[in-house]
Amino acid sequence: MKSNTAIVGLQWGDEGKGKIVDILAERFDCVARYQGGHNAGHTVSVNGRRHVLHVVPSGIFHPGVTCIVGGGVVLDPAAFLKEIDGLHELGIKVDGQLFVSNRCHLILPYHRALETAIESLLGDKKIGTTSRGIGPAYEDKAARRGLRVCDLFDPPTFREKVQSQAAWKNRLLQSMGSSETIDVDGICDAYAGYGERLKPFVVDASLLVNTLIRNGKSILFEGAQATLLDVDHGTFPFVTSSSASAGGAATGLGISPKHIHTVIGILKAYITRVGTGPFPTELHGAEGETIRERGREFGSTTGRPRRCGWFDGPAARYSAMINALDAVVVTKIDVLDSFAEIPFCTGYKYKGAMLDEFPADAAVLGQVEPVYKMLPGWNTSTAGVKEWRDMPAKAQDYLKFLSDYLDVPLGMVSTGPGRDETIHLKELP
Ligand code: GDP
Ligand code: IMO
Ligand code: MG
Repeated sequence: MKSNTAIVGLQWGDEGKGKIVDILAERFDCVARYQGGHNAGHTVSVNGRRHVLHVVPSGIFHPGVTCIVGGGVVLDPAAFLKEIDGLHELGIKVDGQLFVSNRCHLILPYHRALETAIESLLGDKKIGTTSRGIGPAYEDKAARRGLRVCDLFDPPTFREKVQSQAAWKNRLLQSMGSSETIDVDGICDAYAGYGERLKPFVVDASLLVNTLIRNGKSILFEGAQATLLDVDHGTFPFVTSSSASAGGAATGLGISPKHIHTVIGILKAYITRVGTGPFPTELHGAEGETIRERGREFGSTTGRPRRCGWFDGPAARYSAMINALDAVVVTKIDVLDSFAEIPFCTGYKYKGAMLDEFPADAAVLGQVEPVYKMLPGWNTSTAGVKEWRDMPAKAQDYLKFLSDYLDVPLGMVSTGPGRDETIHLKELP
């Protein structure tokens, strides 16, 4: 039996999951996304060309690999269809390869309007979301009033549901000082059109994945966002609204946890965060700028500059525990090439004492003082290195230190955005 494998981010997102899923995809029969929405931006470089995927799984560049968007994903049909059109323009045929769950909750225009109103009310306490309507769509799902992909195919009931939501949401928007009003006819017309176009892609995704598994096919589960953004286990409330850790693969796809055999965590050799929230190792000066410039740390989805910092050991160790990792993949090691010394955060001090656990309270995390071990830099280019033996010894030492600290073997090291700019170490599925 082949090993079904989950790929999860271990930091605050943008670790390079897209690149790694694309590399591994050819070894699997299917790549399945299980949560999040078009807040994600997964970059895949194929033949020197950069593609940013938002909802379409990062296996799509491998013809013959079935790509499934599971019911745990919240779907903005307009954004999804635009993504498909973009792929078609590049000559990438997705028909017959890409499928979307009839159980996905829909993102509607009022979700975006509500998010904008809520974020502006929060002022400097805002989460700094991607403004894609993700949070309000998941709220409606949990509140049992969301509309789903299957609702698109029953227009009279779809209209009834939108109408009842509009009455409610207009009152909410008004009470928050928003000037937006919900255009029920406009939504119903647009979504009827989306339904027609989506129809060929819509399936019972849980049934499809379970059938593939029963037939001995192998599945790569693609996580979006990351463990520190997970709604249950992340740095709440500065998180996204879905289950981004490995456990989400089971709930988001409607499969038993018994079908997830391997979990691989993706980490940058440093750490970044978009949006607000505590960030113990954040760099505010020239070193942060150097990382942002060298790592091109600007959001793949929103273009916002990413906040940059040194590798946060306690946070990574916590994420490793949540996901029970078989291996880690360390990306963007080349970005650290120019530093003479590299601080590695090995612990947190809080009110003068070392903390034993990763704090649940964001206010505590916001006040911890990182304790650093200074590791020597290598001052040599590692860009594009493909073999471990060609890595400078000090870069090898940095990576070994990281792997020992987490007590998880290194699966791969990424030295550039391209597929082949990768060192393959541990035998992965
Ligand atoms: P994801 O959301 O986890 O898929 O990551 P993103 O695509 O949002 O961000 C990762 C960025 O780093 C993308 O622009 C990648 O092309 C780039 N990238 C990935 N691996 C490497 C690497 O090893 N070195 C460098 N310099 N860039 C990388
Ligand atoms: P990928 O999959 C980085 C962040 C937002 C914000 C918080 C909540 O590319 O790694 P949301 O719009 O989800 O309600 O925003 O989560 N965020 C991400 N940060 N990478 C992502 O996805 C993200 N998706 C959401 O910046 O802080
Ligand atoms: Mg990203």
